[in-house]
Amino acid sequence: MSTPRKVFIKTYGCQMNVYDTARMSDVLRPMGFEQVEAAAEADLIILNTCHIREKAAEKVYSELGRLRMLKQDRAARGRDLAIAVAGCVAQAEGEAIIARAPVVDFIFGPQSTHALPDLISRYDAGERAMVETDFPARDKFDALGEKAAAAPAVPVSAFLAVQEGCDKFCAFCVVPYTRGAEYSRPPERIMAEARLLVDKGAREITLLGQNVNAWHGQGAGGTWNLARLLSELASIDGLGRLRFTTSHPNDMDDELIAAFAENEKLMPYLHLPVQSGSDAILKAMNRKHTAGQYLDLVARLRRARPDIALSGDFIVGFPGETEEDFAATLRIVREAGYAQAYSFKYSARPGTPAAERPDQVPQEVKSERLARLQDLLARQQQAFNAAFVGRSFDILLEKPGRHRGQLVGRSPWLQAVHVQARGHAIGDIVPVRVERAGKNSLSAHIMDTTTADV
Ligand code: 5AD
Ligand code: SF4
Repeated sequence: MSTPRKVFIKTYGCQMNVYDTARMSDVLRPMGFEQVEAAAEADLIILNTCHIREKAAEKVYSELGRLRMLKQDRAARGRDLAIAVAGCVAQAEGEAIIARAPVVDFIFGPQSTHALPDLISRYDAGERAMVETDFPARDKFDALGEKAAAAPAVPVSAFLAVQEGCDKFCAFCVVPYTRGAEYSRPPERIMAEARLLVDKGAREITLLGQNVNAWHGQGAGGTWNLARLLSELASIDGLGRLRFTTSHPNDMDDELIAAFAENEKLMPYLHLPVQSGSDAILKAMNRKHTAGQYLDLVARLRRARPDIALSGDFIVGFPGETEEDFAATLRIVREAGYAQAYSFKYSARPGTPAAERPDQVPQEVKSERLARLQDLLARQQQAFNAAFVGRSFDILLEKPGRHRGQLVGRSPWLQAVHVQARGHAIGDIVPVRVERAGKNSLSAHIMDTTTADV
């Protein structure tokens, strides 16, 4: 690679990967790399991959097939192109990736972003087929934090990783293997990064973690839980909104529930996956709670914050799932009521306990159940949005819309809201009144705060 260099990073999967991609960019910037939006322009292409389901992992190999052509094309014109695989596929499959796709020059896992400069200088020295997937003892975030300080700007709605990894070992899930054991970042590091983000223009911060509500740390006055961290973060001037994701039902403590009532900056939206509504399947999944306990938790959340919007994840066709089990999932969806949700066909992942089970559910049964579940979830989402027509609330303006003069913001309940800018700018928090509701978004007009436009 010659200088100045261009890097294209393609991100798959969850928000933690989005965060890690931003950290890669922070590490590469001081090395003279500019981030570009097209593979064709790049000298270095990094695929930041997801291993959660087979489909996600397979996408990486089809992309690598395309990149092989691009690399050949470049070589024919005497130009170099380095190709790297990062993220959870890198962690899970390691050098097997290079065996299957020799076009890959180096591989690094989610804990090894700080190794990028070394990998690149070794690449420049002619080394190939490098694999960096150790879990280092030190905090990967600390090694990256200072680099983030040099970032020119941050989004108005920024992510901040506070926790990584998972010790829950749900029987279907690769995360405990790819992201490792639960780790909570120390409070002072999080507070410092949050202040930095706000200084650079963030108005909203979403705390990230595979099990974010299990976060804990030693802060002023003793052990802090997530509720305490949120309350400290809320004292940062200029920060308008807080969110956190993803939570496990068993780690929702009373103080965190109360935070939805007491912390004015904490938005009324919670992603709280239940996966299934059947107690037998929940047990087989090793979720360690029942459908009844989940519904009780939802009731307590609604008592604390009656307008809280609930989001969820569901898996259909877990091994052994009967039609009755699936009917229980439809039932819990009706009873809990979701503003938004993700649902998936069970995908057997190598190395997870459920993958070994003999009672796998046939593909066509999974497809049919998924269609029924998604139909119900889509109707719930539509009804949730429709109920907002005529209502007013504040939105945070986040990005330009597709039409001239249009901006897109977010409601407290995470709905996308389209408005005409009327002199307002990205980063403003403005009052709006909803005119129309669509399946996935709302249209609204910004209310005039000086005259009585209500
Ligand atoms: N198959 C299907 N869905 C899965 N998820 C995790 N593992 C699997 C799997 N093996 C889903 C869960 C989780 C979300 C991030 O992905 O619903 O909450
Ligand atoms: Fe995976 Fe379960 Fe951990 Fe979530 S709680 S990351 S589904 S093992």
